[in-house]
Amino acid sequence: MKTEIGIDKIGFATPEFYLDLADLAAARQVDPAKYRIGIGQDEMAVLPADQDVVTLAAAAADQILTASERATIDLIIFATESGVDQSKAAALYVQRLLGLNTAARALELKEACYGATAGLQLAYDHLLAHPDSQRVLVLGADEARYGLGTAGEVTQGAGAIALLVTRQPRILVLEQPTAYHSEDVMDFWRPNYRREALADGKFSTEQYLRFLKLTWADYQQKTQRHLNDLTAVIFHIPFTKLGLKGLRQLTASAPNDLQTRLLTHFQQATILNRRVGNLYTGSLYLSLYSLLLFAELPAGARIGLYSYGSGAVAEFFSGRLVPGYAAQLPPAPEVSAVLDQRQRLSVADYETMFAQQLTTDGSTAATPSQSVNAPFRLSGISAHQRRYQKNGGQNQ
Ligand code: CAA
Repeated sequence: MKTEIGIDKIGFATPEFYLDLADLAAARQVDPAKYRIGIGQDEMAVLPADQDVVTLAAAAADQILTASERATIDLIIFATESGVDQSKAAALYVQRLLGLNTAARALELKEACYGATAGLQLAYDHLLAHPDSQRVLVLGADEARYGLGTAGEVTQGAGAIALLVTRQPRILVLEQPTAYHSEDVMDFWRPNYRREALADGKFSTEQYLRFLKLTWADYQQKTQRHLNDLTAVIFHIPFTKLGLKGLRQLTASAPNDLQTRLLTHFQQATILNRRVGNLYTGSLYLSLYSLLLFAELPAGARIGLYSYGSGAVAEFFSGRLVPGYAAQLPPAPEVSAVLDQRQRLSVADYETMFAQQLTTDGSTAATPSQSVNAPFRLSGISAHQRRYQKNGGQNQ
């Protein structure tokens, strides 16, 4: 059998608090249609102080991994823009919380929203280069923070995606070659002393679209494939309107029926993103998850994926759906119900939660117990160390 490598399982976690963007529009004295239509977002996840990228990623992976998978992962890649330590990889906390194999490499990757794609491609290369390796765990977790009252505020969000990457995967076979491009661009960045990102907003959207043009042209040239060879195209989604602009750019001269098909799948691929907001590095994979949950796609369907990370690196690549892929995923209503059950915050409560901060002077502090449904909590900080616990359990 031909060796194929790709995504075998997908897990997703997001905080149990959210802000309705109609409430934010009222508070900021903006027409709600600007957020719903102009930006293309309905709700955004809000991260409480007892959650961070580690607890989110651990929750996303915990729901998909069996005991034998935990024992045989030999590479753990944690991609994030919102890492919790300047030195230690967040992957190591997750390894301990989930009881993952210790005969494993574990590391953290950073390149804004592109990190998880870098992780996925490294996972592919690792499995190709190491015939004895069975599976790689790729985590993408972030809190997107721009600040209260900023232009980017409405595009915040939080959450994590876990991808189990294997040979003979049961969801998506990754294809080679892929097309990538990088340049030193100052469109979005976050200096070490800031909790909120700085963004040259309009410029960043122009770079996203410019890099799409470059990587799509390169992908076509390398693969000799055209738009019609793709059943669906999905995008990094900082907010859904930008993905829509990307789609319109790709389909500008496509026949009507092709435009309609790709638009329908784009809408299915952004149902969850509209309700969670920006996950930075997990956003493209949340869009993939949304597409797979809400669309019925034929086995073998080719999906194009556009990954963009400010700074900037972009990659256009594709994968083919494996027959029976739906059996690897929860039913869509189950995932929607998790979002429905989140607690809706008032703007005042969101602003309070947004301002919560761990101590930064080395003093001991416990976090308020806010998350009741999350499997893991950040319980506090002592001796300059973050303390994690299973919800209802002991510090670990
Ligand atoms: N009804 C409907 N639409 C309305 C409206 C109304 N009442 N009022 C305004 N709009 C529309 C505008 O016409 C505009 O539409 P177009 O983009 O189609 O022109 C849209 O709403 C946005 O309005 P503005 O142009 O006034 O933009 P803004 O000042 O609100 O800022 C933004 C938008 C620059 C994207 C800002 O949200 C931002 O800075 N976001 C953070 C940066 C970002 O996400 N960049 C994305 C690329 S970088 C990346 O991808 C990495 C990453 O994840 C960060």
